[in-house]
Amino acid sequence: YRRQRQMCIRDRRYVLALTTVIKHVYLWSMEKRFISSNAQPQQDAYHTKWQAPSNIALVKYWGKTLPQLPKNASLSFTLSDAQTKTEVNFTPLGAPTKKVSFSILFEGEEKPSFRPKLEAFFDLITAYQPFLLHYDIAISSHNTFPHSSGIASSASSMAALAACLVDLESQLSPMDEKLKLEKTSFLARLGSGSASRSVQGPMMAWGTHPSVIASSDLIAVTVNDIHPIFTTYCDTILLVDKGQKQVSSTLGHKLMHNHPYASQRFAQANSQLAALLSVLKSGNLDAFISIVEKEALDLHAMMMTSDPYFILMQPNTLQIINAVWQFRFETKMPLCFTLDAGANVHLLYPSNVADKVKAFIASDLLQFCQNRQCVHDVVGTGIKKC
Ligand code: PMV
Repeated sequence: YRRQRQMCIRDRRYVLALTTVIKHVYLWSMEKRFISSNAQPQQDAYHTKWQAPSNIALVKYWGKTLPQLPKNASLSFTLSDAQTKTEVNFTPLGAPTKKVSFSILFEGEEKPSFRPKLEAFFDLITAYQPFLLHYDIAISSHNTFPHSSGIASSASSMAALAACLVDLESQLSPMDEKLKLEKTSFLARLGSGSASRSVQGPMMAWGTHPSVIASSDLIAVTVNDIHPIFTTYCDTILLVDKGQKQVSSTLGHKLMHNHPYASQRFAQANSQLAALLSVLKSGNLDAFISIVEKEALDLHAMMMTSDPYFILMQPNTLQIINAVWQFRFETKMPLCFTLDAGANVHLLYPSNVADKVKAFIASDLLQFCQNRQCVHDVVGTGIKKC
């Protein structure tokens, strides 16, 4: 019996190792088409400007492996008004540099604190855009949402920058529209995982999943088969805490590595995504609400059970959640909440109840927000050239 058991364990390990090797060979072959070996740098300077929206995940990505590959598939609404607008001047250099030469202005000011993340990003992407070493890259960007609002700007900023880089590439070697969008998502992902989902809209999925056609760990894809009600969705972001997060999402992702519930969480996210896909088709809003709210609380449960543990919700986050549940119980309106990695609350609702929900927000919820501030947004379609 013992020998049989040992053989069984050995077989299982063998299958696991084989699956990992096959997955890596597959990813490597997929990745090859994002290496721009034909793009030759030119003598002329190039200037471009793109805007990209933020997005809000309904099924959350929390946990990754190198290089920025998700441990589970995620799905999000692309937003419309919360945007980063990024302008880039590419100036040709006499000779190529060893590392990408760049400068960064944010809201008109130099931001040395942004350099390490951008340096790491450029180090990762030069393998896919080697021509960047032949340019000096002057980046200038600003957000349309309030500064220091606690709204995650890494998704919109990395997607806008990636769009500028792909725009230059398309000037140097021909690219069709599909490849441009895919490469933008691919590069954005290497800057910030969730940024891969900001390139198109109104609904994007990132991460290999058996129920999402053409899904991939390398890029996000659009989710097309959705009930029209979801194309009217609104997202009001209640600004509970506008300060810096105590725990960055980079650290939060790392804490999933030896988290006791990590494997159950990854499996659960994938099965919640499968359930959400059929709800998105049918338009069943009750089922939508229970999956979305559960996902938000599952994400925060992972934070509370990490080692070290942490809590990003604040007393006012819970006040809002309770008030939303009360409102839904009394009015039967399809209002629900979700959370990202912070204390702010995203309220999701279809536009046919927007007037009543906005009145409720003003009368009952703004009291829980810093300076009574919120941002009203709606679902959107992704990146745009400005
Ligand atoms: O893209 P990152 O590394 O900032 O991680 C985003 C994580 C969440 O916002 C909490 C979830 C998600 O899927 O967007």
